Amino acid sequence: MTVDTDRISPARQLIGHERTDVPTPALILDLPRVEQNLREMARRMAPLPAGLRPHAKIHKSPVLGRMQLDAGAIGLTTATVWEAAAMADAGLDNLLIANQVVGPVKAAELARVAGLATVTAAVDSAANLVELSAAASSAGTEVGVIIEVDVGLHRSGVRTPAEAVALGQQASEAPGVALRGLLGYEGHCMLEPDRALRIEKAHAANAVLIAAADEFVAAGLCTDIVAGGGLGTWDITGANPRITELHAGSYIFSDAFHRNLVPGFEPALTVLATVISRSGDTAVLDCGRKSIGIDRTPPEVAGGAGTIRYEHNEYFIHEEHTVLDLPPGSALAVGDRVELMPGYSPTTVNFYDFYCVARDGVIIDVWPVCARYGSATVSLGPAT
Ligand SMILES: Cc1ncc(COP(=O)(O)O)c(C=O)c1O
Repeated sequence: MTVDTDRISPARQLIGHERTDVPTPALILDLPRVEQNLREMARRMAPLPAGLRPHAKIHKSPVLGRMQLDAGAIGLTTATVWEAAAMADAGLDNLLIANQVVGPVKAAELARVAGLATVTAAVDSAANLVELSAAASSAGTEVGVIIEVDVGLHRSGVRTPAEAVALGQQASEAPGVALRGLLGYEGHCMLEPDRALRIEKAHAANAVLIAAADEFVAAGLCTDIVAGGGLGTWDITGANPRITELHAGSYIFSDAFHRNLVPGFEPALTVLATVISRSGDTAVLDCGRKSIGIDRTPPEVAGGAGTIRYEHNEYFIHEEHTVLDLPPGSALAVGDRVELMPGYSPTTVNFYDFYCVARDGVIIDVWPVCARYGSATVSLGPAT
């Protein structure tokens, strides 16, 4: 596997240092916990009919993607063509972009990736299909597509099985394109804290996807892939015998949000911060909205060092400051280190160039966070 580590090579000087000595804010990956989460998910998925194609948007790391494949994943899911390119450039195969790849530069990049790996993208419009077909034809590669069906999230996806069939027929005839099946992501069920309600909603969403798959079968269209799911529905969508693959990903790190939603996975990602100010029972940390993901749930302070202050109806987290209420008698002093579990891991990793990979309290490696944004290296051609 080749991972471009040149741009983070100065960070290699951190290797061998204590985890708590790294300049802050820093992204710490606890490797034994990641390994445990990979084993745990493989154990849970083993009896289920669906394969696991973990969502790599959570980590944006070919090294972690490789570990997921080695743990039995059938391939990797990505959110962007740039993430897929990072995986393919590192030599990883069987990639699926659970999103529309729109625009000539992205379509050309998808066609390039298709020359390196088997890659499949979601489509929900005829215009996009034509664009991908043209890009693949001109690159001389074959791009896989799955038709995305809206199963209730009301984000992307065709709205009816009939539209899915019409687009599927068009895909099966388009040059440079291979129709591989269907995608129906039930993201609106993922956030449902009431387990019984989550099951009910996920069954309803899965039924929409399966109705489309039935129409595909009747029309003689490919249903090799019938995909959906995330961590919140792993054992609902993953147990459906008609669904071939599950796109859960957040199990790899968990976080304050997912830990409550689906227990049993270790919090493996933390942000290391430094106390920069202390007065009375208040401490201020050098991390904030520009260094830790706070979507859905606030971060949690490790080891009971304090709790994030809540006032004026919001958590006291500014761009570069987080304010803690300290427990009585706290000895926390300026310069001390504190670790926080992100509220949401996927919107934490993109703040960082690299992971500080820790084992037994020591940094043993640094791994790049790839494809944090669209690639500036892709040529647009001459400006007009
Ligand atoms: C299309 C799609 N599939 C799957 C997932 C699953 O991810 P998670 O494991 O975080 O639930 C997501 C998350 O946002 C997604 O957008």
